[in-house]
Amino acid sequence: MPEPRDDREADPRGEIAVRERPVPSELERASFSGGQLRGAALRAALLAVEPSSRDAWIDALLGLGEIPEDGPSLPRGGVPYLPCDVSAILAAIDLVTLDARRTFVDLGAGVGRAAMLVHLLTGARAIGVEVQPELVAHADATLARLQLGGISMRCADVRSVALEGDVFFLYAPFSGAILDEVTRVLAALGARRPIEVITVDLELALDPACVLDVAGSGRVTRYALGPRS
Ligand SMILES: C[S@@+](CC[C@H](N)C(=O)[O-])C[C@H]1O[C@@H](n2cnc3c(N)ncnc32)[C@H](O)[C@@H]1O
Repeated sequence: MPEPRDDREADPRGEIAVRERPVPSELERASFSGGQLRGAALRAALLAVEPSSRDAWIDALLGLGEIPEDGPSLPRGGVPYLPCDVSAILAAIDLVTLDARRTFVDLGAGVGRAAMLVHLLTGARAIGVEVQPELVAHADATLARLQLGGISMRCADVRSVALEGDVFFLYAPFSGAILDEVTRVLAALGARRPIEVITVDLELALDPACVLDVAGSGRVTRYALGPRS
């Protein structure tokens, strides 16, 4: 018998039944551990999962488990940890150029989930910058357990890091003075060489002089920055 398509179909009385947490199959887990479930294969497996279950499916595949509470190291203006949803990450990937020759940087990376997913889907090198040491420790433990290379975490306030990379990702990680400073640094970087900045649920007040193009769909915006010739 085919699987019911959603919870309402599973419940003829019209009450929404509690759905079992979706988990990857044994075959998918084995293929992921063996390094085959990557790139297009991973994307196909993810898209085969019902959209509302994709976040839980990825969490289970990565084995993220319990996430530490936010702590006192979160600076004023910093947004507490909240993972970006898979649908927005997929939309972001579709708006930029990412492959093994390029570096993706998540500014305010939490437990490295978006950085890991982007690396696994595109092959791009990924760097996560995160100010809360407990979240970085969680990310490093995940990377070690999964034996994932190509992704690294830096435990630092974004304002203290020299930003290097090709695609910068911001899932509304901070506001106020921190956002103003990071926006200025990204604009200065973009004035020197081409970069792409992807934001989710965030509009950047970038100096128009360095913005070559703005594109977006819904909550996700991509800014192409670069020197004007
Ligand atoms: C909304 S969460 C985004 C998490 C991650 N990008 C994701 O999508 O899964 C924001 C993260 O930014 C971090 N953060 C806030 N201010 C920061 C700062 N000044 N430097 C580095 N990380 C910061 C927070 O600790 C939090 O983990």
